[in-house]
Amino acid sequence: MIVLGFESSCDETGVALVCTEKGLLSHALHTQVAMHAAYGGVVPELASRDHVRRVIPLTRQVLSDANLSLQDVGAIAYTAGPGLAGALLVGASVAQSLAWSLSLPAIAIHHLEGHLLSPRLADPRPDFPFVALLVSGGHTQLMRVDDVGQYSLLGETMDDAAGEAFDKTAKLLGLGYPGGPALAKLAEQGDPTIISLPRPMLHSGNLDFSFSGLKTAVLTRLKDAQALSHVSETLSADLAAATQEAIVDVLVAKSIAALDQTGLKRLVVAGGVGANRALRQKLAVALKKRKAEVFFPPLELCTDNGAMIAFAAAQRIVRGLVDLSDQQHGFDVKP
Ligand code: KG4
Ligand code: ZN
Repeated sequence: MIVLGFESSCDETGVALVCTEKGLLSHALHTQVAMHAAYGGVVPELASRDHVRRVIPLTRQVLSDANLSLQDVGAIAYTAGPGLAGALLVGASVAQSLAWSLSLPAIAIHHLEGHLLSPRLADPRPDFPFVALLVSGGHTQLMRVDDVGQYSLLGETMDDAAGEAFDKTAKLLGLGYPGGPALAKLAEQGDPTIISLPRPMLHSGNLDFSFSGLKTAVLTRLKDAQALSHVSETLSADLAAATQEAIVDVLVAKSIAALDQTGLKRLVVAGGVGANRALRQKLAVALKKRKAEVFFPPLELCTDNGAMIAFAAAQRIVRGLVDLSDQQHGFDVKP
């Protein structure tokens, strides 16, 4: 069966076609980054309006790229939450209207389930069970994943998400939006050993995280430097490198602790911060030492996209977890 999927929870309009047998057929993405950059962050009203502008042309594009028509589609999936209400409404309205007009099931997908299963779009594909490290702009969670729909939370952030820590520190350093990739780029020119930053909750004895103290520590260092007129490009690069290293160190240590606690040997990393090169490298080295494997989604599918939504729905269909006769399929995962 072919699933048409829509993602519109924040500042990316994503549309994709996934076949339950053949996998990803085509996907198209429009990112609003340039539009929001002038405001230093996502403006919800502008995001919704842009989703309205993009969603139909992108749908035409994925159908044409896969040489298919709407008549070939067997189910329609959309991100039901969490996300910006107006932005989510665009994808949900388009998906449900299409489903209704074509007499197809409309399948609501939890945004995080989309991220969580997206590494299974890559080759090699991780088998179940695995530990998932979900690191996005809004969430930082460690989950035990036994199968599609069987998720248990092992730990999560008590305050800021890892992506948020990247974004907020980047803002302090005067870098553009989105901050994560900008901070990672600046970090390449810095020395992480010059400035020492805390590793919050590293030894907390559980799998929870806390990142809000990190931006305060960076702010203190910056203020000290400003008072002495010592702010320079080198200081900014060293602070970026130290911040990235502190975040990555905590993520790596807690991921290993999660593998130890569950006795599992597979770690899957998903969400926007999964695109971070330092995180990828450190995890690869640390897990190799422990004879464990780490899996990432294809790089272009780390951040929000429609492929992960269509794919999550396809996997639910294959396992009989969706009632295909239901055009208003319920939202069965906690928002
Ligand atoms: O998953 P995502 O696209 O959206 C949410 O669901 O939040 O994640 C976006 C987050 C942002 O905080 C962004 O700064 C971060 O992922 N991010 C990165 C990198 N690329 C994206 N953080 C660090 N390094 C990167 N290369
Ligand atoms: Zn996301």
